[in-house]
Amino acid sequence: MTAAQTEARRHAQRNRNTLFVEDAEILQVHPFAGEQFIQRIRAPRCAANAKPGTFVHVTCADALPMRRPLSIMRTGDDWIEVLFKNVGDGLRALSRKRAGDVISVLGPIGMPFNPDPARPRCLLIGGGVGIPPMVFLADRLRHDARYRPFAILGSELPFPFELTASAIDVPGIADGTNSTMPLLESWGIPARLTSLAGFPGCHDGFVTDLADRWLRTLSPGELAEVKIFTCGPTPMLKAVAALAERHGVACEVSLEEFMACAVGGCAGCTVPILTKTGKAMKRVCVDGPVFDARSVDW
Ligand SMILES: Cc1cc2nc3c(=O)[nH]c(=O)nc-3n(C[C@H](O)[C@H](O)[C@H](O)COP(=O)(O)OP(=O)(O)OC[C@H]3O[C@@H](n4cnc5c(N)ncnc54)[C@H](O)[C@@H]3O)c2cc1C
Ligand code: FES
Repeated sequence: MTAAQTEARRHAQRNRNTLFVEDAEILQVHPFAGEQFIQRIRAPRCAANAKPGTFVHVTCADALPMRRPLSIMRTGDDWIEVLFKNVGDGLRALSRKRAGDVISVLGPIGMPFNPDPARPRCLLIGGGVGIPPMVFLADRLRHDARYRPFAILGSELPFPFELTASAIDVPGIADGTNSTMPLLESWGIPARLTSLAGFPGCHDGFVTDLADRWLRTLSPGELAEVKIFTCGPTPMLKAVAALAERHGVACEVSLEEFMACAVGGCAGCTVPILTKTGKAMKRVCVDGPVFDARSVDW
């Protein structure tokens, strides 16, 4: 057992009411264009404790001792769903798994997003494989009548779902930009898509262009009710944080870093964070991955 595995086991035991290691059967695998995959995995204890923004650390193959971190996209009675894109050996090996195969799932890990009832207009911005936590957050917000979520999702690869024309109006967004994610549409949550790849019904630009357009339609009183939640590539997060700052709205970002143990033991994932007492190194795995955008030293 490696040092990281020993630390993972120790941390799991210490946090046995909130963090679990489960031998988890893969229930379904859905492949999408661009080497993207959605896997539904039976992990009842993780599913019962997951919150939007938390993630799992999963084994990908016997030959690869290091786990890989993946955001939780959805949960059901006894399952979680993850969405990933093949980038290297780990996720490629995971993508070869089939229904019935068993992997080890450690989770849920990390600090979740914090919706604020004083800011009920939730703007969810997801880019690429940063879309999963936005779907999870939308799922939770739809069950709470206090919140009015609106999602903007961007991808340069084909979206890992069939594009559908939305029947839900979004003030300030041009009629031609009406493609949406069917799952969010079925939940009654307005969403719009952006891409530079020319997909039908998608805004031809960045997620921040569309978000800016929408924010500009709001009165000062309405802006004071907005909170942005975002996950995606670091340059996108930085641009979203700057947009939030320009409009004076609250914003939480979910950061990505290379991870070894993912349970706070190795300090391999630290980033500089601005705290009340000055700059401090914080671990993305357990102090994050969600941070206040203003606290990140971009
Ligand atoms: C909290 C968290 C949640 C994540 N959620 C998802 C998700 O839902 N879906 C998804 O597809 N991916 C997600 N990732 C990223 C994913 O974990 C990495 O892409 C994966 O570990 C790569 O493993 P690999 O063996 O396939 O590739 P590797 O061979 O390890 O890496 C391939 C390439 O990706 C780069 N890379 C690897 N890990 C990271 C990282 N953490 N940040 C930036 N670049 C990296 C490497 O430099 C290399 O260029 C998440 C990462 C974190 C930290
Ligand atoms: S990955 Fe080890 S402390 Fe975060």
